Amino acid sequence: MDFSLTTEQRSIWQWAKEFADQVIAPRVEANDRKAVFDRELMKLVADNGFFSAILPEKYGGQAMDHIAYALMTEEIARVCSSTRTLFSVQISLVEKPIWHFGNDAQKDRYLPALASGEMIGCFGLTEPNAGSDAANQQTSAKKDGDHWIINGQKTWISNGTIADVAIVITQTDASLGHKGMCAFLVDTTTPGFTSRKMEPKLGLKASDTAELFLDNVRVPDSAMLGQFGEGFKVAMYCLDQGRFSVAAGGVGVIQGCLDISTKYAMEREASGHKIGEYQMIQSMIADMAVDADAGRLLLLRAAHKKDLGVRNTRETSMAKLFCGEAANRAAYNAVQIFGGYGFSEEYPAARYYRDARVLTLYEGTSQIHRIILSQDALGIRPANGPGCPRTPIDQYSNPADLTQVLAMV
Ligand code: CAA
Repeated sequence: MDFSLTTEQRSIWQWAKEFADQVIAPRVEANDRKAVFDRELMKLVADNGFFSAILPEKYGGQAMDHIAYALMTEEIARVCSSTRTLFSVQISLVEKPIWHFGNDAQKDRYLPALASGEMIGCFGLTEPNAGSDAANQQTSAKKDGDHWIINGQKTWISNGTIADVAIVITQTDASLGHKGMCAFLVDTTTPGFTSRKMEPKLGLKASDTAELFLDNVRVPDSAMLGQFGEGFKVAMYCLDQGRFSVAAGGVGVIQGCLDISTKYAMEREASGHKIGEYQMIQSMIADMAVDADAGRLLLLRAAHKKDLGVRNTRETSMAKLFCGEAANRAAYNAVQIFGGYGFSEEYPAARYYRDARVLTLYEGTSQIHRIILSQDALGIRPANGPGCPRTPIDQYSNPADLTQVLAMV
């Protein structure tokens, strides 16, 4: 097993680190305090090529692999979870699904514009009564000649008020259950489409979070993403991508907490010693260091499977669950190490603490991931689909296994 990174992966990691420290970091505190979405920063993210990370060159992309994408995402999250959310949604929840399910016309129309940042995307799945139970969609799509009429409401949609295009998951016939669901690419300027910012929030204050309202929104047949009845599959594919970037976000938060905590612990003194010399502080630092590495390794294993092109719901879910929970542990400990100053918004620990909280909620609560993973472990429902091997490390030691798995996707 080779844990080394390629020169290209290292340079992408370094590039993202420099951008995060030099461009994002100076704006983070003010944006968080004012709770504003920073459009100027979004333009800098776009102009520096971040939105084009993973798409192929023919769509204006950089054709990065998922290892590099994970490391890049971690670096942004280390400094700012709101900015990480912006581009996780753009890349993982919008670009990748269009690349995977879109027809040529959809790819040509949307992907270059999304890669350059000329267009921003959002993903509309969650509804007031369809959160964890994602199949319970009330947003309806009714056929009208060669068009569809969409009515409904979406909630907790990141990038919702700034998006130019939304992937909207709908139900065409409730009696068909998830087999009646369809996904549509809806331009947000279509008459009947409106959005409203949701505030105030506990964290991610500089992220754009919105409700979407679709009132007799009329879209052509050509707006359907994937085939009729594939809406749930599209949604689950989107989540397999989005959860990966949330896991990377969690690693970034853990690393950020470790960085500020180690620095503070070697500066702050109590009873004549640096607090980092006390074992109870060291214990918390050690836990953060282990969580950072464990989370990163789970994340990079999922990345490796994505790069192989094999189903990775299980590995992605595991990384998302672990990193989301571990980010909260790290943020809790960072506040603890900062003591009273951890309770002050003048210091960064409080922001990490608030921003970490959503990581166990969005893109599947920790409880949903435990359901997915326990059902897999118990053999009730294999997370990676029937027939996929479940052993974690050596499943592709026999090249014949890999051929078999590749044939299934
Ligand atoms: N990929 C492909 N297919 C999948 C799949 C996946 N990851 N997961 C399930 N499927 C398939 C199943 O194989 C099954 O197919 P068949 O009927 O052909 O056998 C079908 O989809 C239905 O599967 P389930 O019976 O397992 O579906 P379910 O209704 O029991 O739900 C669930 C399963 C995992 C709980 C799912 O509902 C879920 O993930 N819920 C959480 C939703 C979520 O994460 N929401 C967050 C929204 S995004 C967000 O937060 C907003 C933002 O902007 C960031």
